[in-house]
Amino acid sequence: MRVAVMASGTGTILNSMIDGGLPIALVLVDRACGAIEIAENAGIPAAIVERTDYSSTFDRDAHTAHVVAALSENDIDLIAMAGYGTILGPAMFEAFEGRVINTHPALLPKFKGWHAVRDALAAGVTATGCTVHVATAAVDDGPILAQVEVPVLPGDTEAILHERIKLVERELYPQVIADIIERGTVLPEIVLPVSTETSTGGTT
Ligand code: GRF
Repeated sequence: MRVAVMASGTGTILNSMIDGGLPIALVLVDRACGAIEIAENAGIPAAIVERTDYSSTFDRDAHTAHVVAALSENDIDLIAMAGYGTILGPAMFEAFEGRVINTHPALLPKFKGWHAVRDALAAGVTATGCTVHVATAAVDDGPILAQVEVPVLPGDTEAILHERIKLVERELYPQVIADIIERGTVLPEIVLPVSTETSTGGTT
């Protein structure tokens, strides 16, 4: 199975996947970031689908088309989003239906969105956590595969709490992906295609 990891940030979760021995065939990023350096240092092919436009006229569908093309060209079977900073359009989830997963630093459906840790702190909850789920066109939605609770402690800042959550994500996410690879499915009804290493050209 060929796994792609999509990231935009420091890439510490990507690093935990590499340390966990997952078969990562491609790292795809949308900007210069720590994740691409981690990929390069590990000898994993990296693709940049650069996003330069952060305005309201950003062409999300064009960005999505480039991402889908890069993943397709690399014969990717399973896509693990690990802090990818651009919301993708519906074409992504049509092309790879049920084969895109994500890790989110909150107990979904609570605290969706990019500021999940900040929002949990602002809400005054005593516990938050992380969620691995199937990604769909609706942001931070889709079937939940695994969740772990993390306590909010007195004196927590957003950075301290996020790091405590990421300690858990670095264990949970690689394990969920390893289980998917072993089962050959994300959800029971979604069977992943077997990648063919060689092609004979087939028949017409
Ligand atoms: C993680 O908390 C993930 O849940 C969120 O982005 C963060 C990525 O962390 N979507 P890192 O860049 O791998 O350290």
